Order: sequence, then C-alpha cells, then structure tokens
Amino acid sequence: MNRLEGKVAIITGGAGGLGSASAKRFIAEGARVVVADLFEDRALAVADALGPNAVGMFYDASEDSSIEAAIAKTVEKFGRLDILFNNAALTDHKMHVQDRTSIDIPLEVWDKTMAINVRGILVGCRYAIPHMIKAGTGSIINTASDSGFAGDNVRIAYGTSKGAVITLTKYIAVQHGRQGIRCNAIAPGVILTEQMKGFPVLAETIHRHVVTPRLGEPEDIAALAAFLAADESSYITAQTIQCDGGHLAHQPQLADMIALEASGRGDVIE
Ligand SMILES: NC(=O)c1ccc[n+]([C@@H]2O[C@H](COP(=O)([O-])OP(=O)(O)OC[C@H]3O[C@@H](n4cnc5c(N)ncnc54)[C@H](O)[C@@H]3O)[C@@H](O)[C@H]2O)c1
Repeated sequence: MNRLEGKVAIITGGAGGLGSASAKRFIAEGARVVVADLFEDRALAVADALGPNAVGMFYDASEDSSIEAAIAKTVEKFGRLDILFNNAALTDHKMHVQDRTSIDIPLEVWDKTMAINVRGILVGCRYAIPHMIKAGTGSIINTASDSGFAGDNVRIAYGTSKGAVITLTKYIAVQHGRQGIRCNAIAPGVILTEQMKGFPVLAETIHRHVVTPRLGEPEDIAALAAFLAADESSYITAQTIQCDGGHLAHQPQLADMIALEASGRGDVIE
C-alpha cells in the first residue's frame, strides 16, 4: 500500500525498536522519513539501511533547541511536515530500575522521565503544529503505554508520564482539530523489541495476562502508526488505541482462574 505517498514524517526515538520498525513501514508506504534520535549514529545507521527516502537526525526530546532545529531542518529539506510520531521515551535500563515508588525514586529520574516523555511531546507539537496549520493538515501520533492506564508496583514516573501522554493527546486533538490536525496515541502492551527480548521472564509473566496466542512485535505498532498517519483514518482523533493483545481488557484475576481450572480445581469457584 502507498498510503503515505508524498507525506513527510518525523519519528522520534526512530533508532529504537518501535521507531525503526515504524520508519521501515512508513517508507514502504511511500513516505519520506526523518529518523530522529538522541543517538545520532544509530539514527544515521537506521536511515542508511532504509535508503534514500530516510534521513537520520540528532533529536533530544529533553532539549527544546534540538527539537526546534530538527523540525526546521526537516521542513527546509522536504518543504513540509505531515506526520509527527512522538515515540521517544526514557527507556534506559539504568534509569528504569531507579523508577520505583514515591518514597524512593530519585527526583532527577522523575524530572528526566517527565522532560522526555511528556514535555518533549509538548515541545515537538509546539514546533510542528504551525507547519501543519499552514498546510491545513497533519497527523500527530504519540506513544503512550498500558502503564498509563493502571498502577503497578514499580515505575511511578514512567506510568504517570504515559497517563499524561494520553491526556495531552486529547488536548492537542481538541485544540487543533478544526485546523485539520489530528492527534492520537498508541498504547503498546509488551512488544518484543530486541531490548524486551532480554527480559524473557518479564515477557512470559505478562504473556499469562494477554489473551492473544502471541505477544506483540514491533511491526504491530508500525502497522497501527501507519494507519493513524494515513488519510484513511481522517475521522479518528483524540483516541488512545491499545495495541496489547487484550492485556487490560479482562478481570485482573483471569490468569489465576484459568490456572485453577487447568489444575482440575475449577469446582471451588463454581
Ligand atoms: N517495547 C515495549 O514493550 C513498549 C511497551 C509500552 C510502551 N513502549 C513505548 O514505545 C516507545 C518506543 O520504545 P521502544 O520499546 O522502541 O524502546 P527503545 O529503547 O528501543 O527505543 C527508544 C528510543 O528512544 C530514544 N531516546 C531516548 N531518549 C531520547 C531523547 N531524549 N530524545 C530522542 N530520543 C530518545 C532511544 O535512543 C531509543 O532509540 C517508548 O515511548 C516506550 O515507552 C514500549
């Protein structure tokens, strides 16, 4: 399909698991793509592998001037900006393990998480939207997470930031809808990126609570992002779409109930 023919996209966190799969899909759908990432060398390598319609660029979602510069450079190079995929987040393992509870999270970890995951999206919108208003069209896609919908024993900052992404998505959509700009979010559950494959016990634990036979792949997110980027979804805005194999769709005790039935002791609950 060539649903993104003629469109120009910036994908932040474009060198990572979901970002690079989305860049590949956007290119396959006819877009020209800026692979924007904190690690410029990785962004350049991803873009290089995708061919002449991809460009790698330095982008620090926690640094306003870098966001402004990357968006200006994109418009200067391609003459337009149709799609902003705000997908970057603080996913660094060393930071994540410190992101625990209100009592013990180092406040620098909270601040950094909010700066990248929330403020970075706001600032990306601030610089991208004027170009979209001028063109009378634009699609903004934000990566949220299942963690934005429900509490957990750890990662108070990450989860809170993703909850904010869900609300921010609605504000952007509402405030700029009449100017032709749509804004939606994708909330992934566990997606088996190379990084996530390094945590097989975590993946398997979550798999007990997923209703599909398999866990998610980066291509599942890429397919949804391409749909939200394309005009085909032009009546969809302000939504957060969960791409999580039904992880949050059921009663929390479902996995225990299934295990109980499988053990032959189902009679105790009937
Ligand atoms: N993989 C999953 O299971 C999963 C689940 C839920 C949500 N998510 C979300 O999906 C998005 C992508 O995650 P991923 O799994 O591909 O992780 P990843 O670590 O592979 O990719 C994240 C990318 O963001 C980049 N990045 C980090 N800080 C940045 C900054 N300040 N500016 C620009 N880029 C920066 C990293 O360099 C990396 O390339 C994130 O928003 C994450 O929270 C992922």
